[in-house]
Amino acid sequence: MLHKWLLSSLALAAIASAHESSFEVRRSHALLRRQSTPSNAADAAKIYGIEQECTQYGDDNLTKMITDKQLPEASQIATIVDGDSEAQQVWKDIQSSGIIPSSVKVKTGTSGNMGIDPTAQSSYDKSDPDCWWTFNRCTEPKSDNIPTDISSCPEPSTWGLTFDDGPNCSHNEFYDYLQQQKLRATMFYIGTNIVNHPYQAQRVIADGHDVCVHTWSHHYMTTLSNEQVFAELYYTGKIIKAVLGVTPRCWRPPFGDVDDRVRAIAAGLGMRTILWQQDTNDWELGSGQATKDQIEGWYTNIINKASNESPIVLTHEISNATMSMFESQAPNIQKAYKNVVPLTACLNVTNPYPEDITYPDFKAFTSGTLDPKNKPDIASVKVDASATYSPVALSKQTQSGSYMSPGSGSGSSDSSGSSSSSSSGSGSNSNSSSSAFKIGAISAYATAITLASMAVVFL
Ligand SMILES: *[C@@H]1O[C@H](CO)[C@@H](O)[C@H](O)[C@H]1NC(C)=O
Ligand SMILES: *[C@@H]1O[C@H](CO)[C@@H](O)[C@H](O)[C@H]1NC(C)=O
Ligand SMILES: *[C@@H]1O[C@H](CO)[C@@H](O)[C@H](O)[C@H]1NC(C)=O
Ligand SMILES: *[C@@H]1O[C@H](CO)[C@@H](O)[C@H](O)[C@H]1NC(C)=O
Ligand SMILES: *[C@@H]1O[C@H](CO)[C@@H](O)[C@H](O)[C@H]1NC(C)=O
Ligand SMILES: [Zn+2]
Repeated sequence: MLHKWLLSSLALAAIASAHESSFEVRRSHALLRRQSTPSNAADAAKIYGIEQECTQYGDDNLTKMITDKQLPEASQIATIVDGDSEAQQVWKDIQSSGIIPSSVKVKTGTSGNMGIDPTAQSSYDKSDPDCWWTFNRCTEPKSDNIPTDISSCPEPSTWGLTFDDGPNCSHNEFYDYLQQQKLRATMFYIGTNIVNHPYQAQRVIADGHDVCVHTWSHHYMTTLSNEQVFAELYYTGKIIKAVLGVTPRCWRPPFGDVDDRVRAIAAGLGMRTILWQQDTNDWELGSGQATKDQIEGWYTNIINKASNESPIVLTHEISNATMSMFESQAPNIQKAYKNVVPLTACLNVTNPYPEDITYPDFKAFTSGTLDPKNKPDIASVKVDASATYSPVALSKQTQSGSYMSPGSGSGSSDSSGSSSSSSSGSGSNSNSSSSAFKIGAISAYATAITLASMAVVFL
């Protein structure tokens, strides 16, 4: 599939150069380039319209990563790429650290690991020894040495703003909207989507948002083998480092499907597990599972909790419909909740990445400092095909202001030095109270997202 994609970009380049002799054609080619084949993130951010924004393009450095076999195939369940000795070494170290509980079994999946076999749940031990979120929303690991999942914000009347399944190729109008409204969010990006739309991805940090991992191919993680779980997370971290220049230290499981085995592998890769306390179910918009009125009703339910909850809320940038729905609800959210913040501010995580880029803590953010220090400029972001990705296990992360040692708001945004403060994410450990599990609906979502990502790759 990837080859097809590569071939078509090469073919486009060949057609383009064959036409260079004619001035007239060159002019229209230049126009075409400007509208639909951007050569960097700054160009891409100026394209509007779903079709134009979603037209494929290639970045030479990213293409080099693909031809050098540095990445798994797009849209496929990731495995360690043949001959990738760096990945092999990181994987060996995680295995020998002993963090992965051997008692937790791989769950039985359905149709290409795009769902959980219902019998896997009905036959599962009701005492939930694996802390399997899909089974009963468990967020307090039962295995040793794995931190609690994060699903809410500690400050009162605070909405934790998060968007999953990006980068969506058509997100420019939406990202403009967030800028205009002075909103910053935590974006959970899918590795395959970054491969397909690297310049859209590069807008995220330049706009002052922060980014976490949402796996390579968006499958049910508890149904994958240890090595597949590792590769799904590792290569998404690696492409985020190459394309965005930062090492992510947080991730969210697709469909919330996580247990202690999967959490442990993520912890070994230095990624804190983030869930949610409230779910808008906005993805159902595109799938025909729910009407616009129903989704608005679900938003309203969450909006009505402003005086007694501070949920991290699950919303999506998966389609024009979900982005538009958020825009229509944002004024009500901002009226009801005292604060609407990204996870960095929610948790006083001033250093979401080990790189030198420092985000405002809760106090600074809510006083109007929205953007991080040392934020890259969109005109200067480049794909670095030889970037070194060196994830460090959560247990070894001591940097002050990281997910393992959130700041206490002392005002210091020193990015070096260590802190011995709480490693539990300070009060952010409440477990989910979202609506009943809907296996049918979630499978429909799995199908929708597969089709969406395949459509892009098959173009
Ligand atoms: C939720 O948290 C409470 C207290 O923290 C705990 O007693 C309960 O078992 C948890 N429920 C789930 C589903 O994890
Ligand atoms: C992005 O959004 C557009 C517009 O709704 C949609 O057609 C496309 O399938 C989405 N792409 C992905 C990868 O989600
Ligand atoms: C959705 O698509 C319509 C039609 O192209 C466009 O006017 C609108 O701005 C888009 N909304 C978002 C949030 O991108
Ligand atoms: C590709 O990477 C090289 C070296 O890292 C850099 O100089 C160049 O600007 C990059 N090209 C693009 C189009 O980003
Ligand atoms: C974040 O810092 C503020 C001060 O800026 C402090 O009041 C608050 O307790 C801190 N919250 C967390 C989650 O550490
Ligand atoms: Zn998702």
